[in-house]
Amino acid sequence: MLPIRSDIHSYGNPKQVRPKQLDLDLTVNFEQKTLEGSVLLPLVRTEPNAPLVLDTRDLNIQKIETALQEKGPFEAAKFELGATDKILGAPLTIALPASATFVRIQYRTSPNSTALQWLTPEQTAGKKHPFLYTQSQAIHARSWIPLQDSPGVRVKYKARIRTPKDLIALMAARRDFRLGDRKEPLTGDYTFRMPYDIPSYLIALAVGDLTSVYVSTRTDVWAEPSIASAAQKEFEDTERMMAAAERIYGTYPWLRYDLLVMPPSFPFGGMENPTLTFATPTVIAGDKSLVSLIAHELAHSWSGNLVTNATWSDFWLNEGFTTYVERRILEAVYGPEQAKMEAAIARQQLDEEIKTLPEKDQILHIELNGRDPDDAVTTIAYEKGALFLSHIEQVVGRELFDAFLFTWLKEHAFQSVTTAEFRTFLEQRLLSREDRFKGKIPVDEWLYKPGIPADAPRVTSEAFTAVQETASQWAKRNALETKTKTKDWKAQQWLHFLMALPKQMPAERMQALDQSFQFTKSTNNQILAEWLKAVIANRHAEAYPKLEQFLMSVGRRWYIRPLYEELAKTEDGKARAKTIYTKARPMYHPITQNTIDGILGSTK
Ligand code: BES
Ligand code: ZN
Repeated sequence: MLPIRSDIHSYGNPKQVRPKQLDLDLTVNFEQKTLEGSVLLPLVRTEPNAPLVLDTRDLNIQKIETALQEKGPFEAAKFELGATDKILGAPLTIALPASATFVRIQYRTSPNSTALQWLTPEQTAGKKHPFLYTQSQAIHARSWIPLQDSPGVRVKYKARIRTPKDLIALMAARRDFRLGDRKEPLTGDYTFRMPYDIPSYLIALAVGDLTSVYVSTRTDVWAEPSIASAAQKEFEDTERMMAAAERIYGTYPWLRYDLLVMPPSFPFGGMENPTLTFATPTVIAGDKSLVSLIAHELAHSWSGNLVTNATWSDFWLNEGFTTYVERRILEAVYGPEQAKMEAAIARQQLDEEIKTLPEKDQILHIELNGRDPDDAVTTIAYEKGALFLSHIEQVVGRELFDAFLFTWLKEHAFQSVTTAEFRTFLEQRLLSREDRFKGKIPVDEWLYKPGIPADAPRVTSEAFTAVQETASQWAKRNALETKTKTKDWKAQQWLHFLMALPKQMPAERMQALDQSFQFTKSTNNQILAEWLKAVIANRHAEAYPKLEQFLMSVGRRWYIRPLYEELAKTEDGKARAKTIYTKARPMYHPITQNTIDGILGSTK
């Protein structure tokens, strides 16, 4: 077993004392916007005299007790809540009597908990019931559970969640019920168990008016009733994706793989909560054109959830590996051209983002001293990380590389790993094995230097060559019968087309574009968002109502941040952005609010 790591983003002292399990009992109170109850922690005490130190943020600690046995008797314990750091929250130090091995903490979350979003009925698809969900990654678990909030520390958990009677609670853990088979009325009392050791950022809860529909023996889709059947159709390839991943990386390690479709304000595309991926409803395009997101979250079942970054500086080990595995899944299920198009678009986005990043943030092993780990969430971790792995694959060949990754995952299953450990494993198990690999991959340049190494693989997509031509013809105002040329284009080709158009276009061109291709009416939200960027840059007023509707209804940060940034470039655009944002802000998740506040200045 690998040792427990030091982590600058946690106050916890796991090397001295460590909870090995969480036993949660929480009541969901929608009126107060709180979770209230207790957590019982069985301890591993390596250093007998050390107190237990946990992470917290905005928690109201009511009572702490310790006991020698699970059943008690429990005695009041001395504890101290330290000063609050803006990024890290406050350490909770609990004095432990000799041989106490259980701690029970009675607490309540704050309505401002950074992990929780409390939605009013109007903010849901069904408009009748409220909704609550958690987002623990990266360091938000501490704002709803007092624990050692580091990806290098793993725990099992049990939970009992009490909700209003008409709502369902779901946790990303073993659930003993499926709504489809339900015979009894809802009880408002649900229990869950996570039997494997997981990092705290994967603990997740959602509560709402949810129903489940069957996709395959291992997969149900959970969603609000009004969107369940659309979701069921959109995700019907999930089992094929799982089978493809299993052929390369080994048996799926988490029992079930269910999906939960979130309300529109969910700030991410997807979150790989184990056994239950949380996904944005904007992924439902009607034609499966955005399901690479499912491939991505599924891929995390191996890279990330099974083998986890030990600290947030190693975040690329989660996302770079996952992006690589995602493309392998797409290739197996939808063919090489599809995977290449995704990779080519991503490369373009990487090259664009690199131009805006300071050198220190272009490094895979990112320095995060004094910073929020959310700063590590850029295309560097995802695409530079994936490119590094593709480069190794190119040099050693696919067969050897697959065997290498399989072994890496197998030998580190349910553990947390560092960049340095990967580097050593790579040298020892792969690169030093054959002379022909010597000096072929600048590993340290990839890991510890800014920019992209010159000999990085270049993805070329044949399907994009035609797109490129069509785009430049449009730009040159050449009359052409584009419609026939574009008849069979895939969503990725349309996206590439939009990305290839000149930033500035005359009003007449914009009008012709929309008339010919109906971008304003696209049901693919990624295409729509790319088009709306052009709408802003070219002041194409006809599509402003759509822009406003999009910003009012979608909370996915990756889509709306570029739109607000584009608006903020001009005075009148900024004024318009502020008007929309004032109305839209209450709908967004705090994470998204923070980002947009940063662009516009708070309009609270
Ligand atoms: N785990 C991430 C989301 C995340 C990262 C949340 C860091 C909080 C902190 C998830 O797997 C992810 O990468 N989501 C992407 C999906 C996309 C790359 C297909 C997203 O939300 O856009
Ligand atoms: Zn991811």
